[in-house]
Amino acid sequence: MANQLCIVLDFGGQYNQLIARRVRECGVYCEIKRYDTPLSEIRALNPAGIIFTGGPNSVYDSASPHIDPAYFDLGIPTLGICYGCQLMAYTLGGTVESCEKSEYGKIEITHGEGSLLFAGVPAVSTVWMSHTDFVSRLPEGFRVTAHSDDCPCAAFENPERKLYAVQFHPEVTHSQYGKEILHHFLYVVCGFKGDWMMSDFIENTVQKLRQQIGDKKVVLGLSGGVDSSVAAALLSKAVGRQLTCVFVDQGLMRKDEGDFVEQTFTKLFDMNFVRVNAQKHFLEKLRGVTDPEQKRKIIGTEFYNVFWDRIRREGADGFFAQGTIYPDRIESGRGNKAGQGSTDVIKTHHNMVGIPEDITFAGIIEPLADLFKDEVRRVGEKLGIPRELVWRQPFPGPGLGVRIVGEITEEKIKILQDADAVFRDEIARSGLESSLSQFFAVLPDVHTVGVMGDHRTYDHLIAIRAVTTDDFMTADWARIPFDVLARISNRLCNEVAHVNRVVYDITSKPPGTVEWE
Ligand code: XMP
Repeated sequence: MANQLCIVLDFGGQYNQLIARRVRECGVYCEIKRYDTPLSEIRALNPAGIIFTGGPNSVYDSASPHIDPAYFDLGIPTLGICYGCQLMAYTLGGTVESCEKSEYGKIEITHGEGSLLFAGVPAVSTVWMSHTDFVSRLPEGFRVTAHSDDCPCAAFENPERKLYAVQFHPEVTHSQYGKEILHHFLYVVCGFKGDWMMSDFIENTVQKLRQQIGDKKVVLGLSGGVDSSVAAALLSKAVGRQLTCVFVDQGLMRKDEGDFVEQTFTKLFDMNFVRVNAQKHFLEKLRGVTDPEQKRKIIGTEFYNVFWDRIRREGADGFFAQGTIYPDRIESGRGNKAGQGSTDVIKTHHNMVGIPEDITFAGIIEPLADLFKDEVRRVGEKLGIPRELVWRQPFPGPGLGVRIVGEITEEKIKILQDADAVFRDEIARSGLESSLSQFFAVLPDVHTVGVMGDHRTYDHLIAIRAVTTDDFMTADWARIPFDVLARISNRLCNEVAHVNRVVYDITSKPPGTVEWE
């Protein structure tokens, strides 16, 4: 049974994915479509509700995305948010004007009686606003349902036509009752039944995978990251030993991580697990190389070569599976084509650029292609993947290769792995783990003078890096308490051979990047 569908029609707003995630958190399946999706296509998808996202500043700008007025004759319950709210008013004959004063941040609104959207919400509540235009006159048949000091039409509606609009952002957590308002729109206005549940997703996907795969084989490149791990577990549940997971250990993972991945997938799941121990091969290829870009290139190319050589040996006579997730393939309303044709592009963070020409598969399987990251994690937990893997922090494809400045040697990898393990252990003990987006140790390849007992030392400096961020485009260095830093420094110098000094990286991004190389 297909799920009921809600469409988030994307007008280029920054919160498009957040809206879709909130809808799914309400138990409603939701997909993001570009604003210029043909009406015939929208009708064919038969959505039970549509949400217009925010977008550029002004509906009067001809370059701004608009909507065919015939849309409103489709009779689909619609909620316009921010720009989407102004667009609804403008397209139906209302007036939009520039605010004398932009409203930005937490704003108080007051709502009147009788709106389904605000049922049970206190008359005065805080919402998140971010706009420079506002609706000054409503189209015929609409009524105002909420206002703020500077925004006379903070919410309005035409319940007969099931058209609703809010100038604020209910999807943002700063909107006190945002979740309730979305819930009312979905359940009361649109009549969704709430049939999007991860346990159903697993059962349905397993059935679909069995049908699709039949008695053929499937190969999957397992990196030990969240997405490929969950894809592997799902495929294992569906087809067991018809699945072969190929895990290339390039020797640049964190301490004992290769063994942990192997144990997890051989002990907990039914599949053929192939570990390619290519540590020596990578070290040889990287010998004498110090330039960061060159190192990345070599690691990427060798990963590709080693992986596909192994697939050739395993026999590529079935399907190829990969852990593509929904955000990898969303096309934004701004016309960003990233993710288009994702079925023939292997994710770059797996460091593979495509399938070699001499290898032909029966097809590509992407079992997580409709899920957001938090949903992938929920599926992973339900499938019994250990927490360490499901909640793993991001780890770059080139691994520790981008955290060892200068030439990569076996000795340096060992020092960095040991230091990183101590650092992570101390962060976990201090209870700081969930407040940090990413944290790791770096080996800057700098020797400094120190003293240990009566001896002078001349040994490695370790840098530690910890950041907080929402999207990794910008990041702030984490304010780890001094006493925790003191313990980390002590432990690193005492427990890790060849470390005699520790520095904490207090650079934000920009101007720094998260990784050192
Ligand atoms: P930067 O260093 O660019 O990192 O600020 C932002 C985020 O991306 C991760 N990162 C990578 N991930 N392949 C990946 O899959 C890479 O080559 C790569 N380089 C950086 C980094 O760990 C951080 O989370």
